[in-house]
Amino acid sequence: MCGIVGYIGTKPASTLLIEGLKRLEYRGYDSAGVCVCRAGELTISKDIGRVMQVEQQILADDRFATATVGIAHTRWATHGEPSKANAHPHFDGEGRIALVHNGIIENYATLKQYLLGKGHTFLSETDTEVLVHLVSEIYHDGAKNLESAVQAALGEVTGTYGIAVMCADEPDKIVAARKGSPLIVGVGTDEYLVASDASAIIAHTSNVIYLNDNEMAVFTRDGMRTLTIDNVPVTKEVQQIEWTLEEIALGGYEHFMLKEICEQPEAIRNCLRGRVDLRDNRIQLGGLESVGRELVKTRKIVLSACGTAWHAGLVGEYLFEDLARIPTEVEYASEFRYRNPIIEDGTVFLALSQSGETADTLAALREAKEKGALVLGIVNAVGSTIARETDAGVYIHAGPEIGVASTKAFTCQLVVETMIALALGRRRFMSQSTMSRYLIALAEIPDKIEAILELSDTVRQVVGEYIDYDNWLFLGRGYNYPIALEGALKLKEISYIHAEGLPAAEMKHGPIALIHEGMPVVFVAPRCGTYDKIISNIEEVRARKGRVLAVATEGDERIRQYADHVFYVPDTLAPLQPLLTVVPLQLLAYHAAVARGCNVDKPRNLAKSVTVE
Ligand code: AGP
Ligand code: GLU
Repeated sequence: MCGIVGYIGTKPASTLLIEGLKRLEYRGYDSAGVCVCRAGELTISKDIGRVMQVEQQILADDRFATATVGIAHTRWATHGEPSKANAHPHFDGEGRIALVHNGIIENYATLKQYLLGKGHTFLSETDTEVLVHLVSEIYHDGAKNLESAVQAALGEVTGTYGIAVMCADEPDKIVAARKGSPLIVGVGTDEYLVASDASAIIAHTSNVIYLNDNEMAVFTRDGMRTLTIDNVPVTKEVQQIEWTLEEIALGGYEHFMLKEICEQPEAIRNCLRGRVDLRDNRIQLGGLESVGRELVKTRKIVLSACGTAWHAGLVGEYLFEDLARIPTEVEYASEFRYRNPIIEDGTVFLALSQSGETADTLAALREAKEKGALVLGIVNAVGSTIARETDAGVYIHAGPEIGVASTKAFTCQLVVETMIALALGRRRFMSQSTMSRYLIALAEIPDKIEAILELSDTVRQVVGEYIDYDNWLFLGRGYNYPIALEGALKLKEISYIHAEGLPAAEMKHGPIALIHEGMPVVFVAPRCGTYDKIISNIEEVRARKGRVLAVATEGDERIRQYADHVFYVPDTLAPLQPLLTVVPLQLLAYHAAVARGCNVDKPRNLAKSVTVE
């Protein structure tokens, strides 16, 4: 999820490493660190906060000045809040092996228990530190060399990784390996770099090698070897980077928002990783284990948030009442905090927040806590204020979200709400077979979103017909009513077109007066229990010469008779439909904003996190 840089050559390593980390800052991060190897000793500097702070520490420490091999890291925390102790690089117990890691070691808890039993002690809460101790355990248990120890350790790991490793006993070597987190190698003259993306390399060379999953590279003063983590040599072709720095940061996308819309399949895979067990038909949410018993006795859930997170809360209301049969209400945090709310015994207050710093949401959770509620969080930013002030919670693992308009964080919030609702439902009344059906359907969502992303160009063409209309309506029912609101907000906040989201049945109670010839009305109309009612609403719009854009279920030919445009999404169970139906609306808003020449990633008047009232 975040940044790695490694260097071996003839120049001062720390200068290149710091410069490389600065090139990766666009990815978002919470802490940074550098480790160099010189005269058989490892020297490290790491801290919470900006790369510049580590740079200052290095400049003041002449042990860094002459080292010509090193590794460096910018962290986006997933396990263990942002802190100096949790920052990378991490050492083994003897301080002789250093490792940096991007990704999630799913089975870190099991590995940690094994290593604790072997006498290892840990200085951090991270999953990464477990990996470096495992490498060390194997290294000192007869491994031939560092790369063999790394191979054996990675053979025990489930999860995702991009790693770079150094060992003081093999001072002129870096071992890198990847599975699920990208790594790219820069091939210079008598020097090699390894990094999370080409932006950290392009200043030194445009000759690169892309490592694939389950591949590794061993760099020494004599050259570089590429092989699989099963120790099979691999021949890799040196390619040329043709991208500009800007293009590299955006991964070839025009805007971070589009990149993050397209990252949703991987973000949801990361969100599910290690939490959904299809074999044992179980959901495992480590962050809620401490409050498991209280949660089962929950008598009421209050969901509270702002903006897009509030829309996620609206979907959550349907999920918790439908799947867990727990009375649920959703509150705007800004309203909840001032209205002296009644909190009864057995109430769980659930704060949703991508940034974990939204002032109104933080104030609302403090109010709920004050009144005796069990306060939980569904947050993206690990160690953020909201995360730290809740009694427990679940991180969504969406990775850094750079675009101001929230997309992948929204769908990952829905995934976490679904997992919590299913876990509670199963502990109350849900049968094994029902649980199994939902878990299988949930596991299929990333691939189904991949398929929907193919619609992007079609959406762009359709939107082009309507971008001069300054008023849109978005309508939906049931689980898709919140998606209508979210679609309207997305369009408003990045294309500055006014849009209103409504429950479809509400149209006839006033808003239908707005319908005029040509007016675009978006219906979120997948196959569901109220489909026929939605078709009637569509006919009401058509009768007044409005133009209908519909999100519908693949194979639904009937809706073509009524809609001017149909964006098809794969079928899935009703509670999971929002995860799919929101994607065409995210694309619609994105393409409208681009067509209107708006600043998609930094819309006027908006901040990524509203930390003030
Ligand atoms: C999302 O598209 C908006 N930019 C905004 O509504 C956002 O969802 C809201 O400010 C809440 O932010 P949070 O999730 O970081 O708490
Ligand atoms: N899971 C690791 C941690 O929390 C790595 C996070 C990252 O990819 O930056 O430290």
